[in-house]
Amino acid sequence: MRRGTVVRWAIAGAGAGIAATVWWWSDRAPYPYAQRRMLDMQLPFLTNHRLDALLGPRPGERVLEIGPGTGLQALHVAVQLGATGRLDIVDVQQPMLDHVMRRAAASRIDTIVPTLADAARLPFPDASFDAAYLVTVLGEVPDPAAAIGELGRVLRPGGRLIVGEYFDPHFVPLVTLLRYANAAGLTLGARLGPPLAYLAQLRRH
Ligand SMILES: C[S@@+](CC[C@H](N)C(=O)[O-])C[C@H]1O[C@@H](n2cnc3c(N)ncnc32)[C@H](O)[C@@H]1O
Repeated sequence: MRRGTVVRWAIAGAGAGIAATVWWWSDRAPYPYAQRRMLDMQLPFLTNHRLDALLGPRPGERVLEIGPGTGLQALHVAVQLGATGRLDIVDVQQPMLDHVMRRAAASRIDTIVPTLADAARLPFPDASFDAAYLVTVLGEVPDPAAAIGELGRVLRPGGRLIVGEYFDPHFVPLVTLLRYANAAGLTLGARLGPPLAYLAQLRRH
């Protein structure tokens, strides 16, 4: 093959590689329900045990989860809220909500309430929740700043918001999260995990 042809192929290959990388890292599509089995595994550093440590769910509380997926965290948290508590789950995909509700019914949990909605437009009045959390969700939301703003709005004063992020194409660095949080009247209370797999606790003023 002539040298000029080789160079042209090399440039075309490099361009395609860069385009694929940009697409991969900027993709914000919701996690596909068809790949739900992957969601049943706890990620290193983002375990339910660590979520408990920052969320501290108590009996009788009203808590909000954004993007429950198949319910890895939802079932675990709902049990801790007891019969007088309530866990609202919000997702943009009805199959995810249906999946969680089937699992809840199988476990005889009747305190989970599903709502089909976008995190950036939450259909709840101000100060409705004692706490809220979202794990590996924020980077999938097309307007993450608006979502954190909405979470700040629906939390009662003193309420806590836990955000879990993992190093994947949707990763939101802590410094970016804190920018959204400050604009929403939330401040960092605590953090667990390394910078690329963290759980952050934010507090509403
Ligand atoms: C990667 S899964 C995480 C599921 C679960 N939190 C876990 O850790 O296993 C992301 C979830 O967020 C939901 N999601 C994506 N964009 C959303 C949005 N704008 N508003 C609400 N939920 C959203 C997806 O449908 C999916 O259920």
